[in-house]
Amino acid sequence: MDILFDRKSCRSYKTDEIPQEDLNYILHAGMSSPSALNTRHWSFIVIKNKETHKQIMQIHTASQMLVNAPIAIVVCADLDKQYKGYWQQDCAASTENMLLAATAKGYGSVWCGVCPIEDRVKAFTELLKLPKNMVPFSLVVIGKSAEDKPAKQRWEPSKIKYESWQ
Ligand SMILES: Cc1cc2nc3c(=O)[nH]c(=O)nc-3n(C[C@H](O)[C@H](O)[C@H](O)COP(=O)(O)O)c2cc1C
Repeated sequence: MDILFDRKSCRSYKTDEIPQEDLNYILHAGMSSPSALNTRHWSFIVIKNKETHKQIMQIHTASQMLVNAPIAIVVCADLDKQYKGYWQQDCAASTENMLLAATAKGYGSVWCGVCPIEDRVKAFTELLKLPKNMVPFSLVVIGKSAEDKPAKQRWEPSKIKYESWQ
């Protein structure tokens, strides 16, 4: 599966819109990842409004690539429905699935971290009017890439051990 190795963070976008069919494919991927006890407690807030994008860029200084990108998706966890504190792992798997789905459809994407940075969590909670049980986990920015970056080669045999540490 080449998309695994083609995925890279994109920080410069064209303004082209994403067709709903492609957006649904990406969201479907986000809903198809593993979650502890199959709780699938996540929700996805799709934000296209450029005024809201501007507000996000103010509360999340490392999300300036949103200036032209057409879509931001905030992955949110439902703390009432998650299982035994695994919610961050569930949401991380979902976030990564969407990045890979975006790559498969030929779009650029980037994962911008929200949780566990407390002031970001608070600011996104207020901006998106989240109820008490929902926590914003990540911000996924998607759109047509305006970059021409090669994929990175990251095969590192030194990272691998077999059977035990020694
Ligand atoms: C938890 C997490 C938070 C991240 N937050 C940001 C962010 O706020 N802004 C950003 O531009 N990239 C962010 N990234 C993307 C990383 O910087 C990027 O994945 C890393 O540099 C490796 O580059 P690559 O994605 O092109 O392989 C984040 C990635 C992760 C996994």
